[in-house]
Amino acid sequence: MKIAVLKEPDPEEGRVAITPETAKRFIALGATVVVEAGAGLRSLILDFDYTMVGAVVAESIADAVRDADVLLTVRRPSQDVLSQLKTGALAVAMMDPYGDDAAVKAMAGTGVTAFAMEFMPRITRAQVMDVLSSQANLAGYQAVIDASSEYGRAIPMMMTAAGTVPAARVFVMGAGVAGLQAIATARRLGAVVTATDVRPAAKEQVESLGAKFVAVEDEEFKQAETAAGYAKPMSAEYQAKQAALVAEHIKKQDIVITTALIPGRPAPRLVSADMVKSMKPGSVLVDLAVERGGNVEGAKLGEIVTTPEGIRIVGHRNVPGRIAATASQLYAKNLFAFVETLIDKTAKVLAVNWDDELVKATALTRDGAVIHPAFLN
Ligand code: NAI
Repeated sequence: MKIAVLKEPDPEEGRVAITPETAKRFIALGATVVVEAGAGLRSLILDFDYTMVGAVVAESIADAVRDADVLLTVRRPSQDVLSQLKTGALAVAMMDPYGDDAAVKAMAGTGVTAFAMEFMPRITRAQVMDVLSSQANLAGYQAVIDASSEYGRAIPMMMTAAGTVPAARVFVMGAGVAGLQAIATARRLGAVVTATDVRPAAKEQVESLGAKFVAVEDEEFKQAETAAGYAKPMSAEYQAKQAALVAEHIKKQDIVITTALIPGRPAPRLVSADMVKSMKPGSVLVDLAVERGGNVEGAKLGEIVTTPEGIRIVGHRNVPGRIAATASQLYAKNLFAFVETLIDKTAKVLAVNWDDELVKATALTRDGAVIHPAFLN
């Protein structure tokens, strides 16, 4: 059983799909692990660290993937790489398949069995495999670090002989996985933190982290959570009430972190240009939803925009990739936990159980065909 890991081709992607720790665990299960040279460098892992645990370093992609049974990557592998895999090999990654049906079809055409880690069900058994959570958590942390480095002032209150520095006011919009970690991080830095969400369950979680919950808590709010725990799109009437509340609150804030998403839809627009303008010069907004259209008007993907009033809107791409070494450590663990379930530990061979709900939820392609229900029409 050969497991191959490649260097991510995107220069902006510093993560890697295996760490020496998970390589060692795969080898203990009877696998041969082959890692492309330099794959871990941007996550602070040397080739030597992999060879130390018994993995093999390959000088080329072709050498790494030749006869591989499993290919592990961070992002969807290129068509060229997939076509070098043998028929029936498994490719496991964050495949980002929505909106790219042609690529999913082409992937099927190569004969690989592709799994999309972001489709992992959010059930207790699969928590350790939940890449959305592991990466969103770090994005929430990094958003606060990015905000504080753009913010020209100190975050905590400081009482000094030369005077008192006031604590920064941080407002977190969207209190899911990323938002809750942003709240916790901002609190640790000493900020005065408030947060909002449309799901009632978020209120208690926000308060348990020592932040104040600010939201329109009407009848619609009480019904805003789906059975799966996600937010519903809100009515125009609710959005207007929410906007009025946010407009009043935001002008007193120094830092705003937005994380609001609705599955399968563009990100809701929560902060208008006028609201941005109402903030003090030097204020910072970090829009973690910028890759899905953005929560903040004026946010630009991959850019830090400074408004004429001196307010910065930060729209970094791939925020988990900005803390690549830690993100890789967690992502590699997520992958190991899932791939381990695809291995027969006695015979030391791959044995995919096609009746397993985790396999059914994540498998995109098999035997030359697209099999995931979301891509069947
Ligand atoms: P997400 O990334 O889809 O959205 C982020 C947040 O934005 C959510 O809290 C959502 O309610 C909020 N939001 C959406 N529209 C908004 C609006 N108009 N105004 C303000 N906020 C808005 O969500 P994420 O982070 O994936 O978490 C969703 C839920 O799933 C949470 O309850 C989380 O605790 C839960 N969860 C459960 C897991 C498990 O049981 N294994 C694992 C991970 C998350």
